[in-house]
Amino acid sequence: MKFFVDTADVKEIRELNELGLVDGVTTNPSLILKSGGSITEVTKEICGIVDGPVSAEVVATDYAQMMKEADVLSKIADNICIKVPLTLDGLKACKALTSDGRAVNVTLCFSANQALLAAKAGATFISPFIGRVDDIGIDGMELIGEIRTIYDNYDFKTEILAASIRTVNHVKQAAMIGADVGTMPPATLRALVKHPLTDKGLESFLADWAKTGQTIA
Ligand code: E4P
Repeated sequence: MKFFVDTADVKEIRELNELGLVDGVTTNPSLILKSGGSITEVTKEICGIVDGPVSAEVVATDYAQMMKEADVLSKIADNICIKVPLTLDGLKACKALTSDGRAVNVTLCFSANQALLAAKAGATFISPFIGRVDDIGIDGMELIGEIRTIYDNYDFKTEILAASIRTVNHVKQAAMIGADVGTMPPATLRALVKHPLTDKGLESFLADWAKTGQTIA
């Protein structure tokens, strides 16, 4: 499973990338707002930090304007992945952009049928929003399972990018179902390492080591 970090916080991206944990980055208009920077400047900086795909989202809702925005975003760096919404215009843009060899992430996916459409439009990634589905009282993880089954049935190459991840349990479940990618906030990524028995075990090993009086040199 690839790990993408779901943020436009350059400092966080840099730190996690140095740990070797970042396979890509996803941003959206809300995350750009939170960063306080301009979309082109922030995205360019992120693209310079990570080697993998960096999703940058169009904000137009009609096909023609989406394509213009996609051209502007594509020029930022070679590892830009254009993010389009799951609408008819978005799917049309997806088809045109991927036919032109560009990477596309179709976002705001909330149903298996939407994911099927995105795959047929040649999407590089489909982003089902687990947390937001959970928020309306439906199990977001079921959606990941449905998409996995459909994509495997027809050997679609579109990668399932589990998005709107809120918990470490979301990451585990998405990985067990076979999501290709999980995009998560930095805090969730960092939390994956935590286990009380790891802390307790380390504490006890270090205490015993100190009693040996030895050093490793
Ligand atoms: C990523 O591509 C999505 O925009 C993001 O995961 C949405 O997460 P949220 O539902 O926590 O805003």
